[in-house]
Amino acid sequence: MLSLVFVCAQKVVSDHASIQRALEFIPKELYPVLFKAAFLGKKTLVLQDLVQQWPFFVLSFQKLLHRDRHCNPSLLKEKPSKLCVQTVILGVMAYLSEALTKEDGGSHARGYSTLCRKQQLRLLDMTGLQDDDLEPDPDTMSLWSRTVTLAKACIDISRRHCDEVMRVSKRRKGSGVAVLTPPAPCSPVYVEVRVDLFVNSTSYGVLREALHVSAHGPLRLQCRDLRAEELSLRSTAGLLELLSPAGIRQIDLRFNNLGLPGLNVLLPHMAKFTSLQSLKLPYSNIDVRRPSPVMEEGLQNFASQLGQLCALKELNLGSSRLSGRLRQVLRGLEKPLESLELAFCYLLPVDLCYLSQSIHVSSLKTLDLSGNNLSAILLQPFQRLITEASGCLLHLDIMECKLTDTHLSSFLPALCRCSRLRYLGLFCNPLSSMGLKMLLQNSVLLPDLRLVVYPIPVDCYDESLPTYSSSFLDNSFDQEKLLGVGAELHQMLVTAHREDVVWTTDMYKYRALEYVGL
Ligand SMILES: *[C@@H]1O[C@H](CO)[C@@H](O)[C@H](O)[C@H]1NC(C)=O
Ligand SMILES: *[C@@H]1O[C@H](CO)[C@@H](O)[C@H](O)[C@H]1NC(C)=O
Repeated sequence: MLSLVFVCAQKVVSDHASIQRALEFIPKELYPVLFKAAFLGKKTLVLQDLVQQWPFFVLSFQKLLHRDRHCNPSLLKEKPSKLCVQTVILGVMAYLSEALTKEDGGSHARGYSTLCRKQQLRLLDMTGLQDDDLEPDPDTMSLWSRTVTLAKACIDISRRHCDEVMRVSKRRKGSGVAVLTPPAPCSPVYVEVRVDLFVNSTSYGVLREALHVSAHGPLRLQCRDLRAEELSLRSTAGLLELLSPAGIRQIDLRFNNLGLPGLNVLLPHMAKFTSLQSLKLPYSNIDVRRPSPVMEEGLQNFASQLGQLCALKELNLGSSRLSGRLRQVLRGLEKPLESLELAFCYLLPVDLCYLSQSIHVSSLKTLDLSGNNLSAILLQPFQRLITEASGCLLHLDIMECKLTDTHLSSFLPALCRCSRLRYLGLFCNPLSSMGLKMLLQNSVLLPDLRLVVYPIPVDCYDESLPTYSSSFLDNSFDQEKLLGVGAELHQMLVTAHREDVVWTTDMYKYRALEYVGL
């Protein structure tokens, strides 16, 4: 449903010439709904004018585009249009150019007569836009390209500012006004951009320059979540140095092969991020399995550096080889974690035992133990762990854990005590369709459950294959049988009045449903 106000707003933004003439008479209370109508209707000319004249301190995508009483949620499900995101950035640039020109003394010559209202914009908040880098879509803008676009905008407006300052100072010189010192590069007019950034080696150079000029330039990047992939130690350290520390919430460094020694160089750069809640270091090539004096020292160092991150709630050490050393790794943390991701970490029983007695266990909302073989000696400690964690756990990932029906029935009672569970990831486990039905029957009693990602059942695989294939992603399964199982599971959900729960074999399609925020 659209409200009458929204329908009117759609009408208004459809006529650029009229709204341009009327903009200064439109009460500022109407700007948000006009913005929303222009953004969702892709009326870029109007959108740019609205941004350029924005009458509030803050322009926040999340606040403006969320579902409210005016607008149909289905319109909002679409990913934000690339054109509109670019337009908003252009609008801010135009606003800054104009404000800088006035500031630099050219107002009488260049001022726009339409600008009766004092411009206010100080913060453009671009966080909270939907991202999906897995399914690139030409009509939307990925986080990576948003980062590049903003970085270029930053550099561009900073250059223009410098040129303008030079031009004005030359003119002043020419008119006999002595300018003794060169003008300070610090821009008197600026807009902060709150943003998540994603950088790899291709975009490193441009982001570095942008962060460098943005400290004093007209467009100032305030990073919230930083994700860096395949960056060298030096580049990563360089970026961390340039980030303004106040708003940093998450650092995600992956595929960098840094190992413990490299991470130990980086962690001291993070101590100044006093709001850092989330540290993700998957695929960082940490290996603490072979004891040696150097490794022991590195591990101790790493653990105490982690302890310096006072706001830390979320830690991802995926694909680190931690066998038997989890206690030492987490030793420095004085406050409990809410999210711990330890996929493919070669964990041993002693690690899970430690975890179930640790300060973290009763705070864990998210636990990822995928890729650890839970079928044998880890099964009991795992059972105990989820029993201890059952009060809080929302999200449990146990993909590729070699779990069969027998294992499932043994930990099902513990699982069913997790009364707040919302997400269960079981993909790539050798379960049968019988096992899945048993799980469904029991799990319908979990009131908050929303998403179960289940494996292709073993009985859907071609029986002529000699042994059960460990590669679940191949095509040797019987598509029709699988559809049959899916239909049966769905019917069971209907019968149990739990059609609100999604059961799927698609790991990616419902990712939004599995998200547990910080
Ligand atoms: C960096 O990421 C972008 C966007 O995903 C991609 O096009 C580019 O190839 C990547 N660069 C490298 C060096 O992998
Ligand atoms: C799981 O680990 C146990 C030893 O802990 C081993 O005997 C078993 O073969 C492993 N299972 C698989 C499927 O790799």
